Amino acid sequence: MGQSMVIIFMVLSVVAYSQNRYEPNWESIDSRPIPEWFEDSKFGIFLHWGLYSVPAWGPTDGSIYEKYAEWYWNRLMQPETPAGRKFNDFHNTVYGDNVKYQDFVKDFKAEMYDPHQWAEIFKDAGAKYVVLTSKHHEGFALWPSRHAWNWNAVDVGPHRDLAGDLSEAVRKKGLRMGFYFSLYEWFNPLYREDVDRYVDQHMLPQMKDLVTRYEPDIFWPDGEWDYPSETWRSTEFLAWLYNESPVKDHVVVNDRWGSETRSNHGDFYTTEYDLVHDQVIAGDVIHHPWEETRGIGGSFGYNRNENLDDYESSGFLIHYLIDKVARGGNLLLNVGPTADGRIPVIQQQRLRDMGDWLRINGDGIYGTRVWEGAPGIDDGTTLFYTSKGNDLYVISTGWDESNIVVNGIRPPEKVRMLGYGGDIEYWVSDGSVVISPPALTPGNNPSPYAWVYKLSGALLNH
Ligand code: GLC
Repeated sequence: MGQSMVIIFMVLSVVAYSQNRYEPNWESIDSRPIPEWFEDSKFGIFLHWGLYSVPAWGPTDGSIYEKYAEWYWNRLMQPETPAGRKFNDFHNTVYGDNVKYQDFVKDFKAEMYDPHQWAEIFKDAGAKYVVLTSKHHEGFALWPSRHAWNWNAVDVGPHRDLAGDLSEAVRKKGLRMGFYFSLYEWFNPLYREDVDRYVDQHMLPQMKDLVTRYEPDIFWPDGEWDYPSETWRSTEFLAWLYNESPVKDHVVVNDRWGSETRSNHGDFYTTEYDLVHDQVIAGDVIHHPWEETRGIGGSFGYNRNENLDDYESSGFLIHYLIDKVARGGNLLLNVGPTADGRIPVIQQQRLRDMGDWLRINGDGIYGTRVWEGAPGIDDGTTLFYTSKGNDLYVISTGWDESNIVVNGIRPPEKVRMLGYGGDIEYWVSDGSVVISPPALTPGNNPSPYAWVYKLSGALLNH
């Protein structure tokens, strides 16, 4: 009896141990449950900041990708393509063709950079996490990477650990911090000549350095499309990240680990301007944690060429967030700082509006999940649904005085509109719950853009 108890105990501990050990293959890596904080957070801020923030220019027309100002160097080197021609025309006129992209480093000074002020802006916006480009495709590191000697923000340019300083400031405000990291580097000679040595001696050491130095909550790779994940040794890195690293219990990663991995592997899937590999996927509920990313305008890196009409309005952005959350996603909204370290005021204004709305209505966003009983979402949809525990939230994105009819729920214990003091009339008819919108006036309207009804207890036993 005693002996068999010992054996049972040993077997159980081996099982328990092996469940928490991840092997360097996708099946094992994908079996890790995503730390809950990510899906609860819903809203994060992306930052694209690098040497491209110096010319800070891109066309405002063309395909989605052609507008990206952070692709400046790559476009310069491809003058024969339609987008390349536009960037070269701009560059040659403004700087002259003897100015090389690398020369921009002397104008990347970040002299107005105040990471505490940035962190406050992000917190006030209602964001729960921040993701900074530690290194974009240009290869310039925003932290003192010894693998990017004389091509990092401490050796040259700002002479400051931009990534470390932001990480500290963001955490002080109680937000989570993450890093974007480009696997490939367009013009790194080692990458171009010998990708295996590049991965072994440059890329993987940089990734581990970032993780051990700053202990990020999110690791957000990109620039993966040239090679399969095997070449990048992604599962090997992930096994280290999930088993060994100092962030193993709370880190989350995206799906950009190799040419075959998007929407297939990773803690959460990504869409970009509603696309995955050029395919529009907006409109679907994705049955895996996911995150949409986009700029407030058409670019990630700051684009001086954009005018007000190129920027989305606050109402658009709030509706966009609601749409993603109702479909089970997060929104990682991008901000493009200037080379001197400012967040353009118009971008601050959009964030402030989102924060004002979330302060009143955040209960229907944060910590919610998809309501499986929701009617489908299409272009004209103005009623969105989220759920949390036994409560259902009905979010109206277009003010309408007609009654709202909800099917497939039990009669709620109470219905209220977030931020509104008065009673909300509702009744049950033919098994449906019918809500009568209150008569809002400019004096009692809780917030502009969208209105959230909380139906307490409507999902009990569902
Ligand atoms: C991309 C782009 C890029 C941007 C990004 C954000 O694939 O290459 O410039 O950083 O993804 O999702």
